[in-house]
Amino acid sequence: MATYDRKDKFYLKAKREGYLSRAAYKLIEIENKYKLFRKNMTVLDCGAAPGGWSQVAIEKIGKSGKVVGIDLDEIKGIHSPNFIGVVGDIELDEVIENLLNITNRYDLVISDIAPNTIGVRDADHYNSYELVMKVLELVKRCLDNGGTFVFKLFEGELRSKLIKELKVLFKQVYTFKPDATRKGSMELYIVAKGFIKNNLIES
Ligand SMILES: C[S@@+](CC[C@H](N)C(=O)[O-])C[C@H]1O[C@@H](n2cnc3c(N)ncnc32)[C@H](O)[C@@H]1O
Repeated sequence: MATYDRKDKFYLKAKREGYLSRAAYKLIEIENKYKLFRKNMTVLDCGAAPGGWSQVAIEKIGKSGKVVGIDLDEIKGIHSPNFIGVVGDIELDEVIENLLNITNRYDLVISDIAPNTIGVRDADHYNSYELVMKVLELVKRCLDNGGTFVFKLFEGELRSKLIKELKVLFKQVYTFKPDATRKGSMELYIVAKGFIKNNLIES
């Protein structure tokens, strides 16, 4: 398993700049490269705790946008009026229905969701893939035409199958490894832009 300094430069930067996680800088890097956000957007953040990605999203969408963050853990550090925190397991139908009741029209879905890793590459990849597939099911039900889906995947053999499916559903699909990702980490981010709702039947 990779060893790393828990208090590395991104950890310290997050403390200094008031972000709830060092992961915030990964989303900032993705944003700088792929321009995900616009003012007034409605954003769903899956696997949102402790809240760094949601903080970045709130900054980017402005006062009249909305961010919904879902996680197994409560998101305690965000008190913005345009943030709704939902505690629950995204693998449960009742949690999905709850999210869809808040709104079923999101412009952007971001997902940093990750299983507890056990240090066995194939198992970690598979568990991450399963979670992503759950999020993708939700994306198919709630992302607006033309919308964007960004997610983390632990690298492995099912990546190409997933990208093939995404290429039917989205106009552009990119793979990205941010500098803020720890050395030796299996994680990568996939950015899928231009959701084509009409292609859902073919996927
Ligand atoms: C890497 S952390 C996310 C960090 C977050 N992006 C931030 O900036 O603070 C991954 C999160 O996925 C959540 N998670 C894992 N499985 C989940 C599930 N089945 N349903 C909801 N959240 C889940 C974990 O609780 C954990 O908080």
